Amino acid sequence: MNTEQLSALFPTENQIPGEFKFEEPIHQTEYLVNGLLKNWTGPVQAVSSPVCVKTAAGLVRKDLGSYPLLSENEVLEIVDAAVRAYDNGKGQWPTMPVAERIRKVEEFAFQMKSRKNEIVKLLMWEIGKNYPDSVKEFDRTVAYIHDTVYALKELDHVSSRFTVEQGIIGQIRRAPLGVTLCMGPFNYPLNETFTTLIPALIMGNTVVCKPPKLGTLLYRPLLELFRDCFPPGVINFVYGRGSNIINPVVSTGKIDVLAFIGTSKVADKIKKQHPKPHRLRSVLGLDAKNPAILLPDADLDLAVQECLLGTLSFNGQRCTAIKIIFVHERIAEPFLGKFTAAINNLKVGMPWTPDAQITPLPEVQKPAYLTELIQDAIGKGANIINEGGGATCESLFYPAIVYPVKPEMKLYVEEQFGPVIPVIPFSDMNTPIRYIEESNYGQQVSVFGNNAAEIAQLIDPLVNQVSRVNINSQCQRGPDIFPFTGRKDSAEGTLSVSDALRVFSIRTMVAAKENEMNKTMITQIVRERKSNFLSTDFIL
Ligand code: G3H
Repeated sequence: MNTEQLSALFPTENQIPGEFKFEEPIHQTEYLVNGLLKNWTGPVQAVSSPVCVKTAAGLVRKDLGSYPLLSENEVLEIVDAAVRAYDNGKGQWPTMPVAERIRKVEEFAFQMKSRKNEIVKLLMWEIGKNYPDSVKEFDRTVAYIHDTVYALKELDHVSSRFTVEQGIIGQIRRAPLGVTLCMGPFNYPLNETFTTLIPALIMGNTVVCKPPKLGTLLYRPLLELFRDCFPPGVINFVYGRGSNIINPVVSTGKIDVLAFIGTSKVADKIKKQHPKPHRLRSVLGLDAKNPAILLPDADLDLAVQECLLGTLSFNGQRCTAIKIIFVHERIAEPFLGKFTAAINNLKVGMPWTPDAQITPLPEVQKPAYLTELIQDAIGKGANIINEGGGATCESLFYPAIVYPVKPEMKLYVEEQFGPVIPVIPFSDMNTPIRYIEESNYGQQVSVFGNNAAEIAQLIDPLVNQVSRVNINSQCQRGPDIFPFTGRKDSAEGTLSVSDALRVFSIRTMVAAKENEMNKTMITQIVRERKSNFLSTDFIL
């Protein structure tokens, strides 16, 4: 692949298949606050696609429309709407029976399915995700909502009983924490945002959501559903530049929970704004540089297949991507030969191109940054070993295997978050182990090998350095039932369907000494259904 060949892959307007055409730009002027879709007439952010279109003037990024750039005043009003809806825990939503909250979330999921085509298309155009992965992101999100409902029912079953211990009667449930600020990442703008937003909501918190900078318009079809399915102020949306609007929001001290998926640098900045940092609960999914370690007896074909998925799914733009490969020097040559051949077979194209695995990158600066990483490595002795690796044209960037990477190169430490694959040969197992120990990241690792004793020996130290050790398998978050977390700069808190319900709530109990007066009163409260908390109702 070279620049001309990449350039030829961008379509003319007429070459875009009918079902995927983006007919008219979407100029979003509305934002959701306190159950109302308010109209914004102030400054807006233009949205253009990573997909370029061939025109007489050359390649032009497709204009997708615009969204509001709210000012600090509007954003602070929005936070106040969430604060009022929570009303110090007295609000309709936080005091509502769990079964009713579940019904509202289920209604939302049902309605959301009717917007699937629109949202999938926006995923493709806004972030360049290929069609099958965009569909997968949507379906996985709907499945996540259903799984969350199921997990909450399970949790509620356990809480629907009294415990008597040492003369004290108690009922323990999980109660909401307050106002939650949800911010998701551009690579899974729908799914990862919803993996915090839905559990936060269903546990009774009120939410201010800021859609990612890329992947914003795809929330528009959902605004009216949120408005219609939830009481006013329970879910609100802010739009604008994070650096302008998020710091003022957090510095009010009105945010109780920060759910953020992005970089540790930004997370640190946000957290520091809170006037009482100990009050701010944080659920963070952050940086990662997951290594793959290929032992001398690794099954090469399997390793190639998993490393390909691990390094290049969605162009390597996954926090869980394999971002550096350590290969034992005995198998370095055959591995690189097969890996290069596999990359040669990857199809590059537009998000709708059948089987396209390499698609345009949404971050405008990314190709230049990746080129800089490669140049730095070449300047320090590495080579690009696959033909055409690193070729670029506008938003398309052809994957590059860079070899041999050394500690002094930027690619050794920086999270490239794109289709550049640093490979390091090693002879001593301590090389990759030391890399993991000295790394700022601690999310996952993939180990490829055939010898049970050797793998077992690696598992025990590695599980204390990262949060998931994958054997002969790529790194990944799913299935969503498994814990998703990390050590060091990689995460704070754990997200899985059931863990998320816990991180957005706190165990709270009602307790009474076991005497006749209290027993009679509790019995009366339960029998006459006078409290939503003190209750033995069983949600089926
Ligand atoms: O960007 C990070 C995502 O959580 C990755 O999820 O491993 O399922 O692609 P995934």
